[in-house]
Amino acid sequence: MIRILAVFAIVSLQYGASAQNKPSFVPQPVRMQMLPEKGFLLTAATSIITDSSWKAQAYYFQQEIASQTGLSLPVQFVTSMKKLVPGAIHLINDSIARQREEYYILQINEQTIKLIASDIRGVINGMQSFMQMLPLKAVSSIELPAIEILDYPRFAYRGMHLDVVRHIFPVVYIKKYIDYLTFHKFNTFHWHLTDDQGWRWEVSSYPKLNSIASWRDATLIGHFKDQPARYDGKRYGGFYTKAEIREILEYAAVRGITVIPELDIPGHSRAAIAAYPEFSTRPDTTWKVATTWGMYNRQNNVLAPNEATFTFLRTIFHELTELFPSSYIHLGGDECSKRWWKEDPATQAFMKKKGLKDETALQTYFIEQVAGYLKESGRKAIGWHEIAEGALDTTTLIMNWGDDSQALAAARKGFSLVMSPGKPFYFDHYQSKDPKDSLAIHGYNPLEAVYQYDPVPAAFHREGLAYKVIGGQANVWTEYMEYPTRVDYMIFPRMSAVSEALWTATENKNYPDFLKRLETTVIPRYQYWNSSWFSGYRKWGLRD
Ligand code: ACM
Repeated sequence: MIRILAVFAIVSLQYGASAQNKPSFVPQPVRMQMLPEKGFLLTAATSIITDSSWKAQAYYFQQEIASQTGLSLPVQFVTSMKKLVPGAIHLINDSIARQREEYYILQINEQTIKLIASDIRGVINGMQSFMQMLPLKAVSSIELPAIEILDYPRFAYRGMHLDVVRHIFPVVYIKKYIDYLTFHKFNTFHWHLTDDQGWRWEVSSYPKLNSIASWRDATLIGHFKDQPARYDGKRYGGFYTKAEIREILEYAAVRGITVIPELDIPGHSRAAIAAYPEFSTRPDTTWKVATTWGMYNRQNNVLAPNEATFTFLRTIFHELTELFPSSYIHLGGDECSKRWWKEDPATQAFMKKKGLKDETALQTYFIEQVAGYLKESGRKAIGWHEIAEGALDTTTLIMNWGDDSQALAAARKGFSLVMSPGKPFYFDHYQSKDPKDSLAIHGYNPLEAVYQYDPVPAAFHREGLAYKVIGGQANVWTEYMEYPTRVDYMIFPRMSAVSEALWTATENKNYPDFLKRLETTVIPRYQYWNSSWFSGYRKWGLRD
């Protein structure tokens, strides 16, 4: 008995808090230390104090704490943050945190709470760690342990993608998705807005993109490999209005989330050519917006290189940049079948005139044109790795959805990369091998594979190219995700694993420990969000 007490006393002295209230975080912070002193008592009388740096973030913080705990804290704006107020939370803009982007320090002791950062993302990231320490229920006060956290991300780009073409989701869900990103300390939402099956943003310059391209006559039922193919016969579609998009952009900006829109060209353009056949290799054809999945080489969906098309591209990308403020704009560039260009005499004549030796050079030509239009608006291009097949200018950022060899080929040419490999960062792949599990495209990307993925493959280190990888992203193609609950089921808990794979240094990662933190800190959050998730992640491992 005496020995047990003695051990306990040492532990208490060391940490000042019992093991129960040692908080756990996802993603795992760079450094955290329990302090050997008494903690802070948070009540409805605790003020949030800041200067004018982060007004919107202070109100965001107030709202989040109130909806999570029922404690409605007053917000106070002061002209100088030099003097600390006892018993308050201080949001401090300080150059100490300027050493790295998104850096934050969170210090909690009996007298005060300090959240120190030097940019919006830093302060938002610190708020997420703070909120992971609070209960997910209404309370009258909260005892917070004395703690110091010093934290910053491993990668500059940490993204999640969402395809709203195959299925479209309400504005409230897009905001909820942005909240998922914020909570997990991602910084980029890649919004896939156009594809063969629909056009999902409001356009002024080419109105048929909304009256025709935003709607399809039916949707495939079941898996696209099923024979015979079956369709539901229901008109499906819609698009986000400019007002809705602005509302979403504002919502994201408060949370420090960059929204990168994708307008996918020169393939994946079936919806656009259904509205404007003159942009296709067969202007005499009446195309229909696609009702099936997996168009590559099966149905014509490419833009033809002619004057009308390039005028269209210039106008539409300018309109896109007027709406979206991100420095990078995604131009797609993936899975562009060369077949339709090969079969078209007008395309072949264009290539000859421009001295383009093959269809890969034509693909590069398209990307160069659009990258040039983006430059006119002061923006840069990002595209899927196929755009690096030809001799493209290396200022374009490559999003690699292939394997390490494709990434390495792009890095050797001088491109910087965002890693979003199909294996394991595609969440339209199965997360179990249970035949009764939810329908997915193919593949097997279980939670552990997602967690263990290192965005910098060994070959990059060997060749001195590690610096070329600026981050990673998981992609959510929604062919088999008709409703938000389906999306939730496919992303959770895998998205939580990606967040740690992109934030936390390799030496601080530990899968069994992650599972524990997932279960204490994150799964209750899925419940709090009223989200669905895949619960069989412990059963389905790497070797299944
Ligand atoms: C892709 O999966 N086609 C980017």
